[in-house]
Amino acid sequence: MYNFEFYNPVKIIFGKGEIAKVGSQIPQGEKVLMTYGGGSIFKNGVYDQVKAAIAGFDVIEFGGIEPNPHYETLMKAVELVKKENITYLLAVGGGSVIDGTKFIAAAVYFDGNDPWDICAKKAPVTKAMPIGAVLTLPATGSEMNGNSVVTRAEYQEKLSFGSPLVMPQFSVLDPEVIFSLPEKQVANGIVDAFVHVIEQYLTFPVNSPIQDRFAESIMKTLVEEGPKVLANRADYDAAANFMWSATMALNGLIGVGVPQDWATHMIGHELTAYHGIDHGRTLAIVLPGVMQVRRQEKKDKILQLGAQVFGITDGSDDKRIDETIQATVDFFESVGIPTRLPDYNVPAETIAKIADRFEKRGYTVGETKIGPAEIKLILENRL
Ligand code: NZQ
Ligand code: ZN
Repeated sequence: MYNFEFYNPVKIIFGKGEIAKVGSQIPQGEKVLMTYGGGSIFKNGVYDQVKAAIAGFDVIEFGGIEPNPHYETLMKAVELVKKENITYLLAVGGGSVIDGTKFIAAAVYFDGNDPWDICAKKAPVTKAMPIGAVLTLPATGSEMNGNSVVTRAEYQEKLSFGSPLVMPQFSVLDPEVIFSLPEKQVANGIVDAFVHVIEQYLTFPVNSPIQDRFAESIMKTLVEEGPKVLANRADYDAAANFMWSATMALNGLIGVGVPQDWATHMIGHELTAYHGIDHGRTLAIVLPGVMQVRRQEKKDKILQLGAQVFGITDGSDDKRIDETIQATVDFFESVGIPTRLPDYNVPAETIAKIADRFEKRGYTVGETKIGPAEIKLILENRL
């Protein structure tokens, strides 16, 4: 196992009815900007619950943060924060709202020309406004990590940044928010959480049984509980297990001391940037290609995944690897997510554009540092 430091100060408040505790988590006297998305919170009662919980505070609202939050929208919030002397940010939504709010928190104090440099040039975040979160969509883990992904629409660029300073001070996870989620978003969340685990697991062995067993338990739980949530959105126990799995998948714990990949995410972000495909769906497209093209380098872990998560134990190594890749594809498709580029009308020309972008940025990705040539092969595998 590699050396590591682990720090996660996010307070999790989990369970039905717990949104009522939001007000008690924010220090008295703060002036709050409540951020949200396109309006789902008005239809499912979350808005009313949050407003009741923070009734004692001076609150200003900023709605309209879109999926794959846009820099252009978030900069309007930055202006509002400055104009209204806001002191505390409360994000109410899915990964996009929470990520967007993290960007606002950092951009407000950015000491430079353009806060986009935080993403594009990895300009350091030296100060951020405190954030609290009410999660409405289990998927990204943003509620318990310091990561954020922002899209600059005018450049068709989707880039990330990370800082412990933008980790929420608290996040409320009430599984009942899942009841109103459309099937598509539940499926996206299942796949996103599953692939977060894969990115921290499907690399090469470093003798880390604790991380491996944690990772396998999260994946098994998603495989077992995900379909229950899809079948019956009112199944509270399944919703609770799904929600906690998604948080545990990307709160840092399973990734400490082990190699990490993230090639699937980096390539997937380009598919969203060029074609607007939902984040979870891009991962379902790319991951089988990564597994196929990197099957030798990832052999030991693919065999372990097959045995521990999908019960694939018979036959030659090659046969088990083939079956494990197929089982992964079958799992994604079983929740209703197609896994090939033509399913999303992505033309073959996009592959060259993406490979070119990685070339120009000088990016290599994955635990074995793959570059444009391999990225091209991975995407060609998905035609
Ligand atoms: O905007 P509203 O009206 O709220 O509707 C949203 C949105 O249309 C809707 N929704 C959310 N909660 C709902 C609901 N509809 C009904 N009932 C509810 N309870 O769902 C739609 C999608 O929401 P979004 O927040 O975009 O989805 P998700 O949570 O999957 O977030 C995706 C974003 O997170 C980034 C992705 O790249 C993408 O930009 N990621 C962030 C990560 C992180 N911070 O660590 C890691 C991930 O890998 C990912 O990259
Ligand atoms: Zn993801």
